[in-house]
Amino acid sequence: MTTATMLADPPALVADPAAGLKTHVAVREATRVFAARDSGLPFHALGPVSFDLREGEFFSVVGPSGCGKSTLLDLIAGLCAPSSGSVHFEGKPVNGEVPDGVAVVFQEDASFSWLTVYDNAAFGVRRTGLPENEVRERVEHALAFMGLASFAGIYPSQLSGGMRQRVCIARAMVLRPRLMLLDEPFGALDQQTRLLMGEEMLKLWRDTGSTVMLITHSIDEAVLLSDRIGVMSSCPGTFIDIVETGWSRERDAQTAMDPRFGALQSRVWGMLREESIKALGVRK
Ligand SMILES: Nc1ncnc2c1ncn2[C@@H]1O[C@H](COP(=O)(O)OP(=O)(O)OP(=O)(O)O)[C@@H](O)[C@H]1O
Ligand SMILES: [Mg+2]
Repeated sequence: MTTATMLADPPALVADPAAGLKTHVAVREATRVFAARDSGLPFHALGPVSFDLREGEFFSVVGPSGCGKSTLLDLIAGLCAPSSGSVHFEGKPVNGEVPDGVAVVFQEDASFSWLTVYDNAAFGVRRTGLPENEVRERVEHALAFMGLASFAGIYPSQLSGGMRQRVCIARAMVLRPRLMLLDEPFGALDQQTRLLMGEEMLKLWRDTGSTVMLITHSIDEAVLLSDRIGVMSSCPGTFIDIVETGWSRERDAQTAMDPRFGALQSRVWGMLREESIKALGVRK
């Protein structure tokens, strides 16, 4: 039995009482069925899926393209409702809006073309009514952290795709969220920048203590960055396994030299390979 199936009960208050790990997000038997497709038939995109995000953990999700990863993120972010089942954040049901304390970085570039880098980063936090001097302090810190300090006054159209994505991460960071949901945030970055950004994400996660859920297509990235990796099946996606990496919080790029790294990588890749073949088969 996988960890995912073992967690198919109603929301528990504690994910792992023995380890003192609290449940931050509880997803129970959640499905998403889209009403309209070309054939006019409903399309079952996700689930049923059950799992917990533990408070303060770094959890990555990998799975074949189109298996329902972004759909799962949308459910947790409150951007769409499950067709059945439930999602709870900090013990409260999530439905219809992004809960307070949650920030999302989307798969596509979601920077606002009409705002400068600075105003893009400040956008979300200004809506909370925070005094402008505190907004400035947070934005300046986030832009420096993302290597964008010298671009504060320019517009997204003058930036590369990867830099625009960093603006979106800065916007999420400025909110100081308790839960950060990231959908392939490094997809537009070159390999070196991607590695560096991964390390920065780890630093951010350690400094803030937030819970992070990262969707990624990179197995290496998932293995290096995560406490746990949820491996999804082909569509309709559900977790076929949740792999504990066992890394300490102080991990960094050097962790890839650890002999356990290769073993974890092979384990995840083995599962993913089969699911990706199934996913491609469906589309033939
Ligand atoms: N609004 C929608 N209406 C109908 N079908 C949808 C809708 N959004 C997504 N889907 C379908 O649901 C399935 C899951 O989509 P989703 O975007 O969650 O996949 P994904 O795992 O994030 O894929 P990728 O890795 O390529 O980003 C896909 O088959 C997609 O076509
Ligand atoms: Mg996606």
